Amino acid sequence: MILVHLPSDLAHQVARLKAQCGRVGFVPTMGALHAGHISLIHQAKQAADAVVASIFVNPTQFNDPADFAKYPITLGSDIRQLAQAGCDLLFLPSVETMYPSGTSLGRPYPLGRLEQLLEGAHRPGHFQGVCQVVDQLLDYVQPNLMVLGKKDYQQCLVLQHLVGWRTQPVELLFGETSRESDGLAMSSRNRRLSDGGRQKAPLIYTTLQKMAQGWKDRIHPQTLMREATQQLEAAGFAPDYAVVAHPSSLELVEDYGAELAPVFLIAAHLDGVRLIDNFALPAHTR
Ligand code: PAF
Repeated sequence: MILVHLPSDLAHQVARLKAQCGRVGFVPTMGALHAGHISLIHQAKQAADAVVASIFVNPTQFNDPADFAKYPITLGSDIRQLAQAGCDLLFLPSVETMYPSGTSLGRPYPLGRLEQLLEGAHRPGHFQGVCQVVDQLLDYVQPNLMVLGKKDYQQCLVLQHLVGWRTQPVELLFGETSRESDGLAMSSRNRRLSDGGRQKAPLIYTTLQKMAQGWKDRIHPQTLMREATQQLEAAGFAPDYAVVAHPSSLELVEDYGAELAPVFLIAAHLDGVRLIDNFALPAHTR
């Protein structure tokens, strides 16, 4: 695996990969890699002929500076895992490289309601920062396809819009959420949980599944949301939301509809760590 820090070296290496191998897949990350990230690398390898990953802890997407300061950095282990997974090229830019004219955003991305709901409401400015960094990364990497993890469901929707606005076409693939054996969604944040918190954390996934079962049993979405919130609170979580939402707009579902394919999403604090997860019913059962 080749490591590059500068966009000019990156462009040279990507051009070489395209000429020698063919289609280039891209997996953007903020490092602190775990098996979930590596599964995205494997997916990119299957869909493309060569794989580029990036590691950049993007300051502009952290609405909470304390969260940015606490973000784990595990570069040695990240490099080892990527090399072992067969990643061809790793881009490791600095803040100055990513934002040569400074971090402030000129014209905001027109994300509309999508950034006023759920993660958007609880993390003001977060999705503008995500669009800003991914837009720049796509300019630098020029991949044929990009793979994103479904754990960040709303981010997938936001970046689907971004990709649609760009002139250069990029195929988007979404990777399934990787889970620990007890159902907890893999996340770089899990390592910040206490032993007790780690034991409780799978309740988020259990609650999502309960909501999905409740939906199939035609329980009113308001009831599902209220009971999910109560269940999490009773176990010591501080939920930001536990919702039944429309899969593409993320507006709350007001009523049961047999033809509707909702997504269930939870964000909750535990041990001072903010965890998110979601569950969408497979199409045929919706
Ligand atoms: O999902 C992430 O790790 C980040 O939001 C991303 C897409 C790498 C942008 O910084």
